[in-house]
Amino acid sequence: MAKVVVVGLGYVGLTTAVGLAQLGHTVLGIDLSNERVQALKNGIIPIHEPGLAEEFTSQVIARRILVSESYDEITSDIEFAFVCVSTPSSPSGQADLSYIESSTASLRSRLEPGSVLVMKSTVPIGTCRKVSAELTPFGINVASNPEFLSEGNALKDFFSPSRIVVGAEKKEIAESVLGLYAGIQAPQLICDLASAEAIKHASNALLSVRLSFVNELAAVCEKMGADISKVTEGMGLDPRIGNNFLNPGPGWGGSCFPKDSVELARSASDVGARMLTVEAAILSNTATKQRVAAIAKELLGDNPNLKTVAIWGLAFKANTDDIRESPAVQIASTLSETGARIVAFDPVVKSVPNKEFFVATSPIDACDGADLLVVLTEWDEFKSIDPAEVREVMRGNAAVYDARGMLNRTSWMANFRRYEEIGQPTSDSFGH
Ligand code: UGA
Repeated sequence: MAKVVVVGLGYVGLTTAVGLAQLGHTVLGIDLSNERVQALKNGIIPIHEPGLAEEFTSQVIARRILVSESYDEITSDIEFAFVCVSTPSSPSGQADLSYIESSTASLRSRLEPGSVLVMKSTVPIGTCRKVSAELTPFGINVASNPEFLSEGNALKDFFSPSRIVVGAEKKEIAESVLGLYAGIQAPQLICDLASAEAIKHASNALLSVRLSFVNELAAVCEKMGADISKVTEGMGLDPRIGNNFLNPGPGWGGSCFPKDSVELARSASDVGARMLTVEAAILSNTATKQRVAAIAKELLGDNPNLKTVAIWGLAFKANTDDIRESPAVQIASTLSETGARIVAFDPVVKSVPNKEFFVATSPIDACDGADLLVVLTEWDEFKSIDPAEVREVMRGNAAVYDARGMLNRTSWMANFRRYEEIGQPTSDSFGH
């Protein structure tokens, strides 16, 4: 078993630390935020990620995880250093690599020759080669081991990944990193540093393109009288297409797809190899959010400033408390700009900084006296809510818009005269 340091205890770093500890390695987790480290020492996990808090606590008790805010805790027997710091987008779309640079510099002066810096953060293609050029004179090796964790499912993804990719300049370095995952059944791929970085970007970008396509197709179905759920079911039966990532929604968001697709499109354009499909997917995603907001506005009708909109869901997707680039928050904001009062409910998001949304304590409370209900995040618990109960607390001519296509259409339509669902024929569908 190895001695490992994990730098950056956000959602990727914490999941990696817990996963490696569970595999039997000894992990030192470093985060420069004193507040975060103190919280972790008290067993408080700063993110909502199923199972993570419990597993973190048991690994701390088993003494396989120690957390600190200082690089000085790094001892000479550390063999691997995982870099899991964030790479936020700067206003130009270029990834801000300042945390990568500072963590690399701090590790350079503390790691022993022969150790391996493992890049898990999503970095622009070519970054690891530069880091390697900087660290090779110190005898430190570099590997790229992109993460494919999906929020809300991160621990499961760690232990049952679709694949483990390791890029390195030397095969034996890549193999040593793969050795850390011994016991996990998954296809493994060894490649060069740049290819590993490209696999990560290309995977996220292709999924974004696919979702933009589906969201546009949902609009076509609405206008032309087709049912998107049947259309995607039929498409998904083709094994070349498959049925994952075909659910239409209010746009794709989160901390990864928007940032990574912009980064890939920008860097590709910079080297004269524009990715027009990715650029189009980004534009299309903005159009989807505008389209969903426009449908909601239309359902709200005249004098929105005298009306109330109930919003179900604020997180960018279900099973997370993450509101970064959340289409739900963006669409609720657009509706708020009409002057309408916004009352939102989300099972885990309890406040949205700088937004004038009221936050209700239950889905039914959010609908109390509302003129319109818009469903924006696909939390499972919304499915079992009785539409008759919702009907009872909403205003007389209230409308419902299911922008995730997740509610039982038949029973909701039986209760609401004005009911719209993403990708379903609207009343004027056949008038084209
Ligand atoms: C994504 C990738 O799925 C992970 O493989 C990757 O490791 C991660 O980014 C990352 O780069 O760290 P995540 O951002 O957690 O994971 O979210 P996804 O589950 O991919 O969803 C992204 C967006 O697509 C969400 O807004 C979601 O609501 C939307 N989506 C997803 C749909 O609208 N329809 C679908 O069928 C699937």
